[in-house]
Amino acid sequence: MRYGYFDDQAREYVIDRVDAPQSMTNYLGTQRMGTVISHCAGGYSWLDSPQHHRITRFRPNGVPMDWPGHYVYLRDDESGKYWSLSWQPTGLPLDEAKYEARHGMSYSRFSCETEGIRGEQTLFIPREDGDEDPVEIFDVKVRNDSDRTRALSVFGYVEFSFHEIDMDNQNFQMSLYAAGSHLQEDAVLCELHYEPGAWQFFAGNFVPDGFDGVREAFIGPYRTERNPLGVAEGKLSGSLELGGNPCGALQKKLTLRPGEEARVLFYLGTGNGDTVRKTRERYDEAGTDRAFAELRRFWDEKLGMLQISTPHENMNRSLNIWNLYQSEINVLFSRFSSFIEVGGRTGLGYRDTAQDAMCIPHAEPDMCLKRIRQLLHGQMRMGYGLHLFDPAVLEQGEQEGFKSPTVIPEADRKSMLHGIRDACADDALWLIPAIVENVRESGRTDFFDEEIPFADEGAGTVWEHMKAALDFSYAQTGVHGVTKGLRADWNDCLNLGGGESAMVAFLLVWATNHFLDAARALGRAEDTEKYAKLKEAMEETCRKELWDGEWFLRGFTADGRAIGSREAREGKVHMESNTWAVVSGTATREQGLSCMDAVDEWLYTPWGLMLNAPSFVTLDDSIGFVTRVYPGVKENGAIFSHPNPWAWVAECMLGRGSRAMKFYDALLPENQNDKMEIRQAEPYSYCQFIMGRDHTAFGRARHPFMTGSSGWAYYAATRYMLGIRPGFETLTVDPCIPAGWDGFEAVRKWRGAEYRISVRNPQHVEKGVRKLCVDGAEAAEIPAFGSGIHSVEVLMG
Ligand code: GLC
Repeated sequence: MRYGYFDDQAREYVIDRVDAPQSMTNYLGTQRMGTVISHCAGGYSWLDSPQHHRITRFRPNGVPMDWPGHYVYLRDDESGKYWSLSWQPTGLPLDEAKYEARHGMSYSRFSCETEGIRGEQTLFIPREDGDEDPVEIFDVKVRNDSDRTRALSVFGYVEFSFHEIDMDNQNFQMSLYAAGSHLQEDAVLCELHYEPGAWQFFAGNFVPDGFDGVREAFIGPYRTERNPLGVAEGKLSGSLELGGNPCGALQKKLTLRPGEEARVLFYLGTGNGDTVRKTRERYDEAGTDRAFAELRRFWDEKLGMLQISTPHENMNRSLNIWNLYQSEINVLFSRFSSFIEVGGRTGLGYRDTAQDAMCIPHAEPDMCLKRIRQLLHGQMRMGYGLHLFDPAVLEQGEQEGFKSPTVIPEADRKSMLHGIRDACADDALWLIPAIVENVRESGRTDFFDEEIPFADEGAGTVWEHMKAALDFSYAQTGVHGVTKGLRADWNDCLNLGGGESAMVAFLLVWATNHFLDAARALGRAEDTEKYAKLKEAMEETCRKELWDGEWFLRGFTADGRAIGSREAREGKVHMESNTWAVVSGTATREQGLSCMDAVDEWLYTPWGLMLNAPSFVTLDDSIGFVTRVYPGVKENGAIFSHPNPWAWVAECMLGRGSRAMKFYDALLPENQNDKMEIRQAEPYSYCQFIMGRDHTAFGRARHPFMTGSSGWAYYAATRYMLGIRPGFETLTVDPCIPAGWDGFEAVRKWRGAEYRISVRNPQHVEKGVRKLCVDGAEAAEIPAFGSGIHSVEVLMG
């Protein structure tokens, strides 16, 4: 069953059956201010940090799960009937009203037709220049489609939040009396009295016919956002109070002749009356149109860095639009603001951020580099990364903001610097490919010599930071000579401590490969020699100690028991170790073919590849928390999306394009649009995981948008399946595609030049380039031209 469709021209997903089994998510904002918003207009906003500077309130894990939101209500002032422009919160019966929601690139549009009135609400956050104040605009249009003049009221409504999310969710005896509402410049302002200069506002481009600044007054006793008193009565009470729960509610009365349309703008932002005045001037109707067009231009430019045209419509749709969009959101908002991660633990997750920043340097160079610099600062001198840290605390010594009159323990620099006992074995290793991919994209090799402090003491060049990460991992080996698993590796629930992790060993090899590529490009011979030797020794050890005959082990417990062997009854075959054995180049060809066949045989489902099979059912703390996770859920036998692309890369390295596509297709959300009653999640975004075979809800996807699956899916599909990879000096095009494809076209922008790539596959092979022509002449490589438009013809065979 499906609940919506793709409008590729507009780059929107259109939800035309709004009673979807789960609300579908989008994100507004491309810079400092962000809003997570559902297709029912539920959601919340923040500025810079959803933990320390929340603007609107979210009731975590509530019923429904996405209330409250950024709502607009309409009321027929003759009949007294009222409804919201998004289906919720009023939830009109769907045979009485036609509702639609459109999620686009950094905007969402809700519309409703009922009672002869068409209403539309577009939410977006304009891109600001310089020190302009960020604001969210509610662009509302109301049209009278009936044949008589109508008297209507439009109401905009938001519930404000205390900035500090801990205060907002816990200590009501303080927060309830520390925020108040005011009226300035015809706008409702929320003042956070304890926090000097902290104001937020809800304003309109009109003089309101009514307002409320107190939530309880607007909603009324024994009511909810579904039937707020102010809207039901058609009259707001003008409530303002020092204390209580501040809200912003504004009423505008309209009289519309038949066919007439009115436009009303609401603004949600941070600042006081001065900011309101400036906002109104900047974003009058023409300014709002300009800002919306600018947002479109912004996404045109980003998505234009790589556009493809293949025989696979859903792959085109994903890579040209949604997959890159989702990856951008991850880099921008760094994972901690959704309906699941409700913004209470911001900062950066080390491995997640590094991988996000690795995958899309072509479209988001500045933000990726910013994240990498923050991660470098979050690395200990000894080489490991701080698993979860707040860069602001490292930079300023503490988080600025709300000062409580009573003592509240705060995260300080010292408590963030954890010891090796809490180090995850993989964290800092991801940073190396992230750095190297960013330099391959930009060509800025001077970045390697930039000096950046370590988290605990001293500073080092980026190059020295990379060596510290490698040195740490090469030193952390267990009794078999394989790298230790420490607190966890990529799998948070595999907690091996002094036991050994095959995945980390292979990741270490892969990270060293990236490092060596850079070392060779820079002519750093001593480092090349040293790390090539270390790497070869590790590969040798892995091939000897981890090969189990048909596939690779996942590792060893601290007391030396093998995990993921043929003898095991549970946790027999694992995705991480087998894919990485191939991706790292460690497995011999025979081993690679055999272990990826085992992945196909044991882990493949029509919804994607499971992480391990069979799921663990016997509790075993020497393996880790994974044995305490329900079978088929998350890290224990679910289709964990993030590692799926590792299998696509592995198959491409083995030259099996059809197999890579089989795996790709199983996970691709766009392929599941008509299975929404099972998937129960957005068909335009990868989810963190999908329930595996061992669970009763097999096929149900959970946790959209904020997942490393997105970046990795984009990385694997563009760089390995389509094979378009920048290097230090040249661009490589080395596809691995299904034999049935005749070829494909792509436009890739790289270091100031545009490459128009055309791949032909007349012999219907899966891999191999027979001939390459650049600008019409046969060539051995594709240079970094630096400017101009260049043709690249690739003949496979
Ligand atoms: C979550 C975490 C990520 C981890 C993964 C597997 O997605 O954010 O860091 O690698 O789970 O445990």
